[in-house]
Amino acid sequence: KNASSSSFKTNVMPRRFYSSGGSPPPRKVVVLGAAGGIGQPLALLMKLNPLVSKLALYDIAGTPGVAADVGHINSRAEVAGYMGEEQLGTALENANVVIIPAGVPRKPGMTRDDLFNINAGIVKSLCSAIAKYCPEAIVNMISNPVNSTVPIAAEVFKKAGTYNEKKLFGVTTLDVVRAKTFYASKAGVPVEEVDVPVVGGHAGVTILPLFSQATPKPNSVLSEEDIKALTKRTQDGGTEVVEAKAGKGSATLSMAYAGAVFASSVLKGLNGEPNIVECSYVQSNVTELPFFASKVRLGEKGVEEVLGLGFLSEYEKQGLEGLKSELKSSIEKGIKSASEN
Ligand code: NAD
Ligand code: LMR
Repeated sequence: KNASSSSFKTNVMPRRFYSSGGSPPPRKVVVLGAAGGIGQPLALLMKLNPLVSKLALYDIAGTPGVAADVGHINSRAEVAGYMGEEQLGTALENANVVIIPAGVPRKPGMTRDDLFNINAGIVKSLCSAIAKYCPEAIVNMISNPVNSTVPIAAEVFKKAGTYNEKKLFGVTTLDVVRAKTFYASKAGVPVEEVDVPVVGGHAGVTILPLFSQATPKPNSVLSEEDIKALTKRTQDGGTEVVEAKAGKGSATLSMAYAGAVFASSVLKGLNGEPNIVECSYVQSNVTELPFFASKVRLGEKGVEEVLGLGFLSEYEKQGLEGLKSELKSSIEKGIKSASEN
């Protein structure tokens, strides 16, 4: 079976792996921004994941209610809510995985980069706390602009002397989720069987779906126009939701699903389950850019192996060259801002 994410059943609800019959090892997952649009459904999905033994929900406001609510669900994870900076340290202590959906979302007409100033500050302060209270934890960054917030996190961890490139992930799973959905519909194949790698970054043209590698193959060959339209819809997926929500924010439910799929794969990797592969934006040698999204094999230490791009069509090769300058400047902007204070 192909290792990368394919369905809710196989990814959010892990199949039996603990052949000894024992329960999976204890794992503490922390959600920072847990009372938000993504945070709440993500908290729900993590509460349902049997790989989680402790679930810490942190936000600057509203977490007691979310924690009390989610905590009544009769599943394994023990839930605790933490509110305000003075409780951040306790929330983070002994964390195995920290998921960060804290920050402001887009409104119509904005780019993800328009969120930079406010979200950079939030990410810096949260990552400083991670360096202090759980320097060994794996960090899943959802806050936008991901192309810059991941380099910011890396710089904060470097300054604190805790950086481990194997443990920092930009969550690009929503791009993969979208690419799979759009491809399945166009190609006439069962969506739960579809796999499509998405590489590059997480904004506009930096999102590069590799439909030439999509499986299963389409029922009838897709034209160049079809591939271009699928590519554009995947790149503009976030904007499609922002516009449909008309000022009430960006993707929250599909993002919570994607974030839960990715975190579940990270936990499976931590637990030693073999052949767990997801696309993610990580420190990378795949191109000349220091951070890049591609398939990554997940393991007991986080990144086990950053996988190469594989075959690219001419159109995809052009897309790859075309995304580099924007991605480079987003990375540099993040690094510069983190080194300023
Ligand atoms: P939201 O406004 O509904 O929720 C954000 C939450 O963060 C709020 O509850 C807020 O109180 C909290 N917050 C703010 N500052 C905080 C801090 N210092 N510490 C802890 N919590 C803090 O927004 P949302 O819709 O949940 O989106 C959150 C972020 O995720 C945005 O930046 C958005 O652009 C991004 N996003 C990323 C992806 C992706 O694919 N990576 C997808 C969707 C949204
Ligand atoms: C998305 O892809 O849905 C997110 O990055 C949110 C956004 O601003 O588009």
